[in-house]
Amino acid sequence: MKKQNLVDSPKEMFGEREDYAERILSKELGNDYVNYRKKWIKACNRKVVTDFPLYIQIEHVGRCNLHCATCIQGIKELRDKYSQGFKPLDMELYKKIITEAKKYKCPSIAFHNNDEPLILQDLEVRIKMAKEAGFLDLIMTTNANLLTQERADKLLLSGLTKINFSVDTFNEADYEKIRLGGNFKTVLKNIEYFSQSKKKLNLKLPVTRATCVLTKFTIKKMDQFRDFWSKRVDMVEFQNFLALKGYTEKMRPPKAKIFKDFTCNSPWQQIVIRANGDVLPCCSFYSATMVVGNVKHSSIHEIWHSQKMREIRNELLKNNFNFFPNCKICSETFYTL
Ligand SMILES: C[S@@+](CC[C@H](N)C(=O)[O-])C[C@H]1O[C@@H](n2cnc3c(N)ncnc32)[C@H](O)[C@@H]1O
Ligand code: SF4
Repeated sequence: MKKQNLVDSPKEMFGEREDYAERILSKELGNDYVNYRKKWIKACNRKVVTDFPLYIQIEHVGRCNLHCATCIQGIKELRDKYSQGFKPLDMELYKKIITEAKKYKCPSIAFHNNDEPLILQDLEVRIKMAKEAGFLDLIMTTNANLLTQERADKLLLSGLTKINFSVDTFNEADYEKIRLGGNFKTVLKNIEYFSQSKKKLNLKLPVTRATCVLTKFTIKKMDQFRDFWSKRVDMVEFQNFLALKGYTEKMRPPKAKIFKDFTCNSPWQQIVIRANGDVLPCCSFYSATMVVGNVKHSSIHEIWHSQKMREIRNELLKNNFNFFPNCKICSETFYTL
């Protein structure tokens, strides 16, 4: 397995991630993938608004089996407001989304947002459908508690290209303080089985990754985290902790300084579709109240080019975060170390 160098900030880590996953995916998926990534870079620079989003992130279930200390699902008051008793995304609506995405050759899809995708019993069927519809990059992030051998076997053959295991820690005592409701031994067993089976089947994809959100608790143990997980997965990644205003600011790493030059490019890259069909302009916890449309009533193409989306992009281009109060709060959650 590749062992990566230590980095001192999450920002540098993002660069490293891109290099590693990019190399494998470019090789496995060829020119279509390379061309998609070129478009992605242009979108990141906010130079163009593509005809259709390059990336669709679908929150199929909207709820979670854990209550992590860092997450909106970990705070009852926020969780109740956020999930509002959603039912899983209806299959007919999913088919509508996939059919439209196929028409526009949308390259990238994710099967999670602020929820746990493995709660969905037919997740693997939905991933296969997306693969057959022509998506190139199929991404899933999971806490891996429900990743039984049976599900791992199915997922390995589903067409998934990246799977991120959100583990934050590398031992039972730390895990149970952060990933509330989860079981470290189960997670370790599940991830080890997944990686071993991938090896046995001689599969290059999905790229496996263990991730850690950098808080004041986890930042002290980056080296050990890397040493532990780099033996078990393809890559390790550290993520910027986004604090929930009024709830979790105290969990920021001690030297964190708010990143003053933050710019947002999400509404040039992606949309998020929630289980009830609501469409959001980004994956931030804060965007839940910024509904820009609903796929039950409009096409994705219409929503992507709607007045609301244009207004959001226009204000973000001016770096005017005040226009949308939630963009303002979100922009203040990014930090440098
Ligand atoms: C919200 S989770 C949803 C998917 C799945 N339940 C999981 O935990 O992997 C998506 C990613 O957000 C990360 N995350 C949780 N709280 C966060 C925070 N406050 N700031 C940044 N990332 C966070 C998780 O570790 C995970 O990698
Ligand atoms: S497992 Fe994922 S969605 Fe669930 S509480 Fe933890 S970070 Fe949030």
